[in-house]
Amino acid sequence: MKMTIRNSALMAVTVAALGGCAGGNMGTAQQAAYDRDTADVMARSFRAQGIATLDRLQQDPLMATCSAPDRHLGDEQAEQIQAAAMAGIKWPSDGNFLGDWKEGEKLAQSGKGLTWKDKADGANGGNCYNCHRISKTEISYGTIGPSLYQYGKLHGNTEKTQKYVWAKIWNPNATMACSNMPRFGHSGILDEKQIRHIVALLLDPKSPVNAE
Ligand code: HEC
Repeated sequence: MKMTIRNSALMAVTVAALGGCAGGNMGTAQQAAYDRDTADVMARSFRAQGIATLDRLQQDPLMATCSAPDRHLGDEQAEQIQAAAMAGIKWPSDGNFLGDWKEGEKLAQSGKGLTWKDKADGANGGNCYNCHRISKTEISYGTIGPSLYQYGKLHGNTEKTQKYVWAKIWNPNATMACSNMPRFGHSGILDEKQIRHIVALLLDPKSPVNAE
């Protein structure tokens, strides 16, 4: 039975995991054969449906580098990856980093979007709780990423922090070369207005993130 591609983040993890299985000390030719087999299995296992088309199986250069089974990322290469990601970030067009934390909380809760059932022009969620603890009151959250509870209190709602969080949401690889967090701005998952709401969720002193 063929699976439908549901979501780009999931795909990235799947591709990385399958590539990773072929790891270990092996010759280049053997590795190339494994890579071809993996690509072949992936191509045969999925079909396109709706907006979930097969281009999601293609790794961009950053994903390929980060999921290479023999990855040895030196400081220099990590810095190059981060600098390239940083250079691609679109900063807020009006210079304003902060939106409405209440809208940010809704986005953090919502994992909606990008499935074959969704429309290309539909708004996506941010799915932040899937990987992060964010507020004290929401007890259902994942732990793939660090806790963000009290983020603004701990880091301060300064221009520097606003820029850091904006960059993290736009493209987490700008500050951590092979981050496993989705590239929300870079990949067109969230738009500028939504990212403002998310930054406010983490930094606005009135947000539940910064409540005691
Ligand atoms: C698939 C899991 C995943 C999702 C979904 C996710 N993150 Fe992350 N996030 C991570 C991981 C892993 C890290 C640590 C690596 C890094 O810093 O890039 C991280 C790091 C961060 C950091 C940096 C923390 C620090 O102290 O430097 C922030 C801020 C953040 N995430 C915010 C968010 C927000 C807001 C959302 C929702 C829009 C979100 N994340 C969605 C996995 C995720």
